[in-house]
Amino acid sequence: MPSTGSHPKILVTRQIPEVGLKLLSKHFVVEINKEDRDLSQRELLRRLKGKFGVIAMLGNKFDAHVISSLDGLKVISNFAVGYNNVDVKTATEKGIAVTNTPGVLTDATADMTFGLLLAAARRIAEGDRLVRAGKFKGWAPMMMLGHDISAKTIGIVGAGRIGTAVAMRSTGFGMRILYFSHKRSEAMESLGARAVSLEKLLAQSDFISLNVPLTPETRGMIGKKEIGLMKSNSILINTARGEVVDEYALILALKKKKIAGAGLDVYRNEPKIRGEFFKLGNVVLAPHLGSATFETRAKMSELAAMNAIAVLKGERPQAIVNPEVLYSE
Ligand code: GLV
Ligand code: GLV
Repeated sequence: MPSTGSHPKILVTRQIPEVGLKLLSKHFVVEINKEDRDLSQRELLRRLKGKFGVIAMLGNKFDAHVISSLDGLKVISNFAVGYNNVDVKTATEKGIAVTNTPGVLTDATADMTFGLLLAAARRIAEGDRLVRAGKFKGWAPMMMLGHDISAKTIGIVGAGRIGTAVAMRSTGFGMRILYFSHKRSEAMESLGARAVSLEKLLAQSDFISLNVPLTPETRGMIGKKEIGLMKSNSILINTARGEVVDEYALILALKKKKIAGAGLDVYRNEPKIRGEFFKLGNVVLAPHLGSATFETRAKMSELAAMNAIAVLKGERPQAIVNPEVLYSE
């Protein structure tokens, strides 16, 4: 343990809930970017100088160039479960631990998935716009009809924690559950979910939920061909990463009503969103809110802090992406 006065420095790239900052300040001199925006790559590089660690956001790209320019950094503690913003291979080569926040945001993200599913199927966001525009003329038997959820088929792509939590919620709606994953999942199957090929899942599901991390294998996984397999009444929900879907193919399918709708929390070029989406009534657009609850963000703050502190103490962090760095010296 370093004595007071010689605490190493840590950079926190955005304001995060207090609980994590309190923990960090017991072990580190904490420097926070208090501005309500992500640091540019240049600012990031400058502010990382002389730091032992960083609590990093998804908007901070730790690519090979950034990582190779760093000296002395020992931990990139990502304030997210997904870590596609970090070049883990280069970090590992440099002996930098990469940690993330799995588990604590599983339920919040699965809830968001269902929020988007319900909003898209029952046209809630569209209805809100209609009411605000003063266009509600009274109940009508054929007005704004959507789709049932109960007893329909949901296809879950990915069988990790979040996909499984989506399956759990699906059981409450009496849905038939299909899933696609490279590995059979006992947790999924204990919920009554059936493992199928991606093709079969796309062809049979009324709702399709993407719950995979972004990797070279999942990038562009849902393209023109895959969307072409979906039913005309189907609704696609993406709370994973924008890059998993070919957005152009999705926009065309929504425009031509080849599928019924979509609910998106993530985008390919966040925070930039393709203008075509704004013109479509059958897509619900959320601003990456999957883990955005008071409770969950506090837990992420605590876990991200504890991960960094563990690296400082030479202990194994609760959630480490590249554990090999811990044993390589
Ligand atoms: C958010 O998208 C996360 O990966 O935690
Ligand atoms: C993330 O927490 C996942 O494993 O789905």
